[in-house]
Amino acid sequence: MSARPLPPAHADLETVLVSATAIRRRLKRLGAEISRVYGKEEITVVAIINGAILFTADLLREIPNPVRLDCIRVSSYRNATRSHARPKLLQNLTLDLANRHVLLIDDILDTGKTLSLVVELIRKQDPASVKVCVLLDKRGRREVPFEADFVGFSIPDTFVVGYGLDFAERYRNLPCIGVLKPQHQNPPEWA
Ligand code: IMP
Ligand code: MG
Repeated sequence: MSARPLPPAHADLETVLVSATAIRRRLKRLGAEISRVYGKEEITVVAIINGAILFTADLLREIPNPVRLDCIRVSSYRNATRSHARPKLLQNLTLDLANRHVLLIDDILDTGKTLSLVVELIRKQDPASVKVCVLLDKRGRREVPFEADFVGFSIPDTFVVGYGLDFAERYRNLPCIGVLKPQHQNPPEWA
């Protein structure tokens, strides 16, 4: 199989932490793992956008269960690489979650504040169950205790971009996950 040509933004990366091939392989296993846990049950997937868009789109194709999909938008970063003190809800859910099996999906579990907030919101609707799936887990950065049920990759405490993850809204379209070169971490024209 021939690999897709790399987008020009790939040149801004200092290192690739997780390759596109490694992501594809892991998603197949993750999809099977999730499907095993839910059996034949319908899953109501809640994706935290924008970061989880690419991960959710690819992961859902590896899950054979009946699925309902909803999205929720929560603010995290602006142009910086450190998160807000308290994430804010920018766009709420539209599906009813009462008595449903909810699988919440995010790109990365960092301080744990975003997922704690969203789980709290979801629980108010009395779902049958709530589980959490993240592509990346930066375990060393937790500020509130939080464990995900399904984790793609555990990574060290370093700011990463690609495959949905952004720096000031750029780099989401990279097919892999990597660390930016220092000169691209604070371009003055984006401030
Ligand atoms: P938390 O609330 O600190 O756990 O942050 C979660 C959110 O912060 C994620 O959904 C991402 O949008 C963002 N985030 C955390 N770490 C990174 C990173 O290394 N790169 C890009 N975005 C990140
Ligand atoms: Mg996010």
